[in-house]
Amino acid sequence: MSCIVVGVTGGIAAYKAVEIVRQLNLLGFQVKVIMTEHATRLVGPATFRAISGNPVALSLFEEEFGAMQHISLSHEADLIIVAPATANILAKMANGLADDLLSTTLLASRAPVLAAPAMNDYMYAHPATEANLKILKQRGVQIVGPGCGFLACGGKGEGRMAEPSEIVDAALEILGLYRKLDGVNVLVASGGTREPIDPVRFIGNRSSGKMGYALAEAAKGMGAEVLLISAPTTMEQPIGVERVMVETAEEMEKEVKTRAPHCKAIVMAAAVADFTPIEISGKKIKKLEKGGLYLELKHTPDILKELGENKPVGQILVGFAAETEDLLEHARQKLKGKNLDLIVANDVSREDSGFESDYNKAFLLFRDGREVELSLMPKRDLASLIWLEIAGLLERA
Ligand code: CTP
Repeated sequence: MSCIVVGVTGGIAAYKAVEIVRQLNLLGFQVKVIMTEHATRLVGPATFRAISGNPVALSLFEEEFGAMQHISLSHEADLIIVAPATANILAKMANGLADDLLSTTLLASRAPVLAAPAMNDYMYAHPATEANLKILKQRGVQIVGPGCGFLACGGKGEGRMAEPSEIVDAALEILGLYRKLDGVNVLVASGGTREPIDPVRFIGNRSSGKMGYALAEAAKGMGAEVLLISAPTTMEQPIGVERVMVETAEEMEKEVKTRAPHCKAIVMAAAVADFTPIEISGKKIKKLEKGGLYLELKHTPDILKELGENKPVGQILVGFAAETEDLLEHARQKLKGKNLDLIVANDVSREDSGFESDYNKAFLLFRDGREVELSLMPKRDLASLIWLEIAGLLERA
């Protein structure tokens, strides 16, 4: 579920496509928008650019993207949504016309297509539109809506575009993600803990929290009730997710342990400090007071291990293994030693992925011995893949 292309055509409902793009983006999808020329008369491309975080594709001949943009977008797309879909684009799709970027991309793609028709009620009821929709449905194009209601041309009738959330739900359904975790309580621990040395200093680590937050967002998108226990991070609280902020490994342990028994799935994506100072100085340690600074450290609790030791029947426990050498060997040991159902192993010494990056290159190692090597991918895609696996494990648990 890496990339959704949203094709916006020239119907008044084009402004509602902004909301579709926003919702898909919040769910963690990579969204690329193609606008037809008529659509640009109704909504400015800058709006879609800002909401999707990606450049908006407008024509077959844009220098910026190269001449083969229709091919790259058609191959990149895991799903193409056409919303609003005017009578004109439906006719072009039904007849295989390819006279602009959107219609060419649709013809060149093998990705599933979801169309949300929006037009005047007479146009919708016209035998030509009816026939075109019939052809498209026969070819496997999914149609959502239209509904009945007030139309931009005045009056009431059938032809009003389906609501953005209906269109997003239909998209999730096609991608096999719709409500896969409906109402399931899940816990995600994220970020890097901080162990105080004195009032101004701490022992920290390079975790950005990006992976954990992507996991929280993806679970929410699949219908879960998400509790995010987060060590300090600059990431914003994901919408619809309950967040509890903690600082140290000990605080994280307390929160996780109290909440864990109520959760069906727990993912420990946090980089928990393994050591903490035995003593915390109440005053700032002055640099001139001593020749050097010697800290005596003690072990912190291994939260995941404790969860594994007290795992209720049917709960799915997932850990991460951040390694710089012997990745799989160490990950296998952690999977077994901490009694996990799944461990996500990643080599944090790679330059193209890991701690502060938006990308991750991981292996998934399962309790039953299955091992899957994944390609380098955005953290949010990895997050969705992990939850799909967890949903499968929950079904079988
Ligand atoms: N973990 C934890 N509590 C700790 C340390 C780690 O819950 N005190 C969890 C992490 O959140 C992660 C998994 O254990 O899901 C593995 O963490 P990692 O740092 O890779 O391994 P450690 O068990 O700490 O072992 P080492 O640092 O020796 O590799």
